[in-house]
Amino acid sequence: MKLFTIFGDPVSHSKSPIIHNSVFLKFNLNYRYNRTLLKDGSNLRDLYFELGLSGASITVPHKETAFKICDEVRGTAKEIQAVNCFVTEGDKIIGYNTDIDGFLDSIADFTNISKVLIIGAGGTARALTVGFLNKNFDIEIVNRSRERLLNFSNFNIKLSDWNNFEPSNYDLVVNVSSAGLKDESLPIDKKILIDIFKNSKYAVDVIYKKTTFLKLAEEMGLKTRDGSMMLVYQGVRANLLFTDGKIAREDIQKEMILAYNL
Ligand SMILES: NC(=O)c1ccc[n+]([C@@H]2O[C@H](COP(=O)([O-])OP(=O)(O)OC[C@H]3O[C@@H](n4cnc5c(N)ncnc54)[C@H](OP(=O)(O)O)[C@@H]3O)[C@@H](O)[C@H]2O)c1
Repeated sequence: MKLFTIFGDPVSHSKSPIIHNSVFLKFNLNYRYNRTLLKDGSNLRDLYFELGLSGASITVPHKETAFKICDEVRGTAKEIQAVNCFVTEGDKIIGYNTDIDGFLDSIADFTNISKVLIIGAGGTARALTVGFLNKNFDIEIVNRSRERLLNFSNFNIKLSDWNNFEPSNYDLVVNVSSAGLKDESLPIDKKILIDIFKNSKYAVDVIYKKTTFLKLAEEMGLKTRDGSMMLVYQGVRANLLFTDGKIAREDIQKEMILAYNL
C-alpha cells in the first residue's frame, strides 16, 4: 500500500484526505491519505521517512520549511520558495507548489485579465505574485502594514500599505489576507473597496466561504469565486503527481469536486 498524508497545524479541519481518498477509492488504487498534526516543523523530513510516505501535502505553517528540506524542488516552487507537495522518488523528496496552478485553474473561465490587485502580503500572496507575473499580468499589492511588503521588494511591482494606497482600475481583485477568515471583517476600508469594485470585473477570495468581501463584490455586480475551488484544483495537481499519470486529470477533477461537495 502507498501512504500519503497532509502535514499542518491545525490539520483536523482539512478536506484533503476526503478529496484524495475519493480518487484512490474510485480508481481502485491501494493508496491511503491521512492527516498528521505537525507542531514542530524541524521534524518534518525525519517524520516523512519514518512514516514511509510516497507523498504528502504540506499546509500552514510549514510550507517554507518544506521548501528547505527537499532534495530537489521543481517548477514554480523554486521562485515562490514554498512547497505544498512532496513526492518520493527513490530515497529523495521532490518538492512542488501546486497552489498557484490550483488558483489559476479555479478561475480558468475568467476572461481578459490584465490588471490585478492583490490584497494581503503573506505566503499565499507570494505564490500568486509569482504565478501572475509568469502570466504577464500587471499586478500591484496593497497590505495593511508596511513590514511584510518588504518581502516583495525584489519584484518590480507597485507596493502600497493602507496609508499610501491610491486605487486604480483592475480586472481582478484578490483577497489573500486572512481578514474574513474568522470574522466578518473586510481586508481594507469599505469606502476604498467600493471605489475599487466600481471599476473591476472579478473578485476572488482564497478563503473557503462567501466572505463579506465577496458579498460586497456580488452586490456591486462583479463575478466572484471563493477559495474552495482553489483547494480542490491544487489537490487535483497534487493527485496527478501522487498517481504519476495513472488517472486522467479530468477524472481526478470530477471525482474531487464530487467528494468536496458531499
Ligand atoms: N483556498 C486555498 O486553497 C488557500 C490556500 C492557501 C491559503 N489560503 C488562505 O489565504 C489566507 C492567507 O494565508 P497566508 O498563508 O498567506 O497568511 P499569512 O502569511 O499569515 O498572511 C496574512 C496576511 O493577511 C493580512 N491580514 C491579516 N488580518 C488582516 C485584517 N484584519 N485586515 C487586513 N489584512 C489582514 C496580513 O497583513 P499584515 O502584514 O498587516 O499582518 C498579511 O498580509 C488565509 O485566509 C488562508 O486560509 C487559502
